Amino acid sequence: MDTVIVTGSAGFIGSHLVERLLKEKYKVIGIDCLTDYYPIEIKKYNLEELKNENFTFFEQDITEMDLIPIFNKSKFLIHVAAQPGVRASWGNQFEIYVKDNILATQKILESAKESKSFKKIVMASSSSIYGEQEGIMIEDITVPKPNSPYGATKLASENLGLIYSSNYDLPITSLRYFTVYGPRQRPDMAFFRFIKANLLGEEMTIFGDGNQIRDFTFISDIVDANLNCMKSKIHGNVLNIGGGKTYSVIDVLNKIEIITGKKNKLIFAEKQKGDVRRTEACIDKAIEVISYSPKISLDEGLEKQISWIKDNLGNK
Ligand code: UGA
Repeated sequence: MDTVIVTGSAGFIGSHLVERLLKEKYKVIGIDCLTDYYPIEIKKYNLEELKNENFTFFEQDITEMDLIPIFNKSKFLIHVAAQPGVRASWGNQFEIYVKDNILATQKILESAKESKSFKKIVMASSSSIYGEQEGIMIEDITVPKPNSPYGATKLASENLGLIYSSNYDLPITSLRYFTVYGPRQRPDMAFFRFIKANLLGEEMTIFGDGNQIRDFTFISDIVDANLNCMKSKIHGNVLNIGGGKTYSVIDVLNKIEIITGKKNKLIFAEKQKGDVRRTEACIDKAIEVISYSPKISLDEGLEKQISWIKDNLGNK
């Protein structure tokens, strides 16, 4: 039984990764310091779902932890721990972004270099490293120009991965996730806020005119991409992981109304600093090198997230 370390294991994406790895009969070690970016109760609730004899959890801060002993016992590492949020990364908050997205990654990579135990390290990057771009985003052609402090820290983290990979021959690949949604989505993200407000008959705020475009990606497709990448032999590169189609925020709002049968109560507010007009992932490289194939359409994914929020609203 191989052991996989998942950092950020109590969060939205991390908890789904742990769940799948346990299903696939891996031993999993989770690390998470339960930051309060959103209510800690949600992370504890996610952890409850993961209780399993093959799952060991460390509630610890990566920057303060001796990672080598657990790294020495493990074959794979999936590093998704981060301070998330494009719109919250301004002002004094930036220090947290630097610590959790750059210093923590550097600590992970230094320890991985010492331990030499990993067959593969998969790191989470983000569409936000691209910033404002006119066309489709292509890994080896589109020049990254982040538009938010958050995006700048994720690009630094991704670059650190490439640097350790080329200098120390560490088997690292970074996956650039494009706006991930689905059950357990972070409560600061658009879909969670829109669906919750729609179901409760409350007002929801649209930042800008709602015509901003996103390449939304369902959580199980993100999990598939991570596992394919972990099992593949390729490394030393970055891959876009998108949903394969783009939609505007207005498209999403219309779909939510159709699925729930309830009307949205919209309030329009100013476009938020750091937000971009559009994201669109070219996924050809991921298809080619890790056989990535997004399976869940926006309609199907929204249905799943709406039904999860209906079942869990009382707990949030
Ligand atoms: C998301 C994540 O929050 C980031 O952590 C991640 O790195 C990023 O995707 C990524 O792809 O790299 P974002 O695209 O802003 O960022 O995701 P949402 O919160 O789902 O927002 C989508 C759009 O809806 C944005 O234009 C946002 O301004 C808008 N929105 C969000 C609203 O109009 N109202 C809200 O209440 C929330």
